[in-house]
Amino acid sequence: MAVVYITHKARAGWDTIPPVLLCGVAECVAVTRADLNKQPHEVAEMFDGVAKRYDLTNTVLSFGQDRGWRRATRAALGLRPGERVLDVGAGTGISTDELGRSGAFAVGADLSVGMLQAGRRVRPDVPLLAGDALRLPFPDATFDAVTISFALRNVVDTEAALREFGRVTRPGGRLVVCEFSAPTNPAFRTVYLQYLMRSLPAVARGVSSNPEAYVYLAESIRAWPDQAGLAARIAESGPWDRVGWRNLTSGVVALHRAIRR
Ligand SMILES: C[S@@+](CC[C@H](N)C(=O)[O-])C[C@H]1O[C@@H](n2cnc3c(N)ncnc32)[C@H](O)[C@@H]1O
Repeated sequence: MAVVYITHKARAGWDTIPPVLLCGVAECVAVTRADLNKQPHEVAEMFDGVAKRYDLTNTVLSFGQDRGWRRATRAALGLRPGERVLDVGAGTGISTDELGRSGAFAVGADLSVGMLQAGRRVRPDVPLLAGDALRLPFPDATFDAVTISFALRNVVDTEAALREFGRVTRPGGRLVVCEFSAPTNPAFRTVYLQYLMRSLPAVARGVSSNPEAYVYLAESIRAWPDQAGLAARIAESGPWDRVGWRNLTSGVVALHRAIRR
């Protein structure tokens, strides 16, 4: 059993791991990414295929909620003007753009050249570069904060990515993971899963440039650990302390945050 010390409740509205979940990730999480294993080049190709209409598709499928989730991510990072923040899995830079509104210097990195090219066309002023979450092209302790929105789920090795985020974050720096999670209300969760597995792929057929990709994306959301499961994974992977989370839209999305030791 791993030793995980989490007692900190930094602010109202942020939960922490209950003691019962202080165990190995394999014990905590019934369904893992192994069920959806894609090679990095396959992930990149899949996102190349959805790049053209990615921003629009996102907004349609989330009923416009994505904007609020991005604003909440920026707020959770507590960025100050002049700080440096890395947005991993930045895609078209839509999440990076939002971070830049804080006055911090925000740079995005992504594996998919198609997503980066689409981003450059609509956001020429947002710094975006090609980079793998597992081997980030930055020296140790470069950033005051590192964040990843709707992308950790798609990285082939979650634990290695969390360690790599720790490497490029300065001691005392912040991590915020914004990712789909588990709705807390059981009745709502049932309706949500129906939407995810049936309606979402159907809607994507009308909007996206590669609707098949949304079947995989929906499946990967369903297989992803819940709030406590991801918190345990963060605490056990890399130099992260004070792991906590906050639900958005009743747990459809969760923000997890942690502090670099
Ligand atoms: C759903 S998009 C999220 C884009 C953006 N962050 C947002 O909030 O809309 C997921 C992105 O993660 C990227 N990605 C997946 N695996 C990656 C990796 N190992 N390194 C960097 N980016 C990766 C994909 O190419 C894709 O652009």
